[in-house]
Amino acid sequence: MSPIKIAFLLFALSFTANGLDYRQDIMPIFKEKCYDCHSSKAKKVKGGLRLDDEKHFSKRFSKNEVVVPGDWDASYLFVTLVMPRHEKGAMPPKNKGESLTEKEIRTVAEWIHEGAKIDGEKGKLGPANWHPDRLLKFKDGRVMTEQFGEAPKVKKLEPK
Ligand code: HEC
Repeated sequence: MSPIKIAFLLFALSFTANGLDYRQDIMPIFKEKCYDCHSSKAKKVKGGLRLDDEKHFSKRFSKNEVVVPGDWDASYLFVTLVMPRHEKGAMPPKNKGESLTEKEIRTVAEWIHEGAKIDGEKGKLGPANWHPDRLLKFKDGRVMTEQFGEAPKVKKLEPK
């Protein structure tokens, strides 16, 4: 193998080993679909939640279990993304912008599973048998639940 190929492989490896990072991988998704209401750009920040400010957002993780690092299925943020669009609490709200694509939802779940790395901090890794790639199944753009047996039970958590 040529040295260039080896160098490239090492680069690719270090990239995957590093995992998903909020600023690099998640923010661009939210920027497009959430910032109208959840950033400094919003007239009034909705739900008091800013997704464009890593410090503010990471502090909010524990409130209402918005993000539970290592447990995407229990993270309210994830739940809002996969709820049926007509339900209250679905994000973005009905008729207020485009839903995340299946790929984007998977990326968010994966990021939470890896410990929700944000602002250099990372929580614990989720259990291997709960890896979103194994469990997250979609049909017609909607996440499936009980039908798939092992698939997660997506539930709306009541704010505490
Ligand atoms: C058109 C405005 C609007 C857009 C766009 C929007 N949201 Fe919201 N969001 C709201 C409102 C209003 C609330 C507070 C009321 C509620 O919970 O229904 C809220 C609340 C939330 C909460 C709950 C916060 C808490 O602590 O209870 C989360 C999580 C959330 N949004 C995530 C998102 C994400 C992620 C996106 C982008 C995919 C998004 N929102 C896009 C209006 C919006």
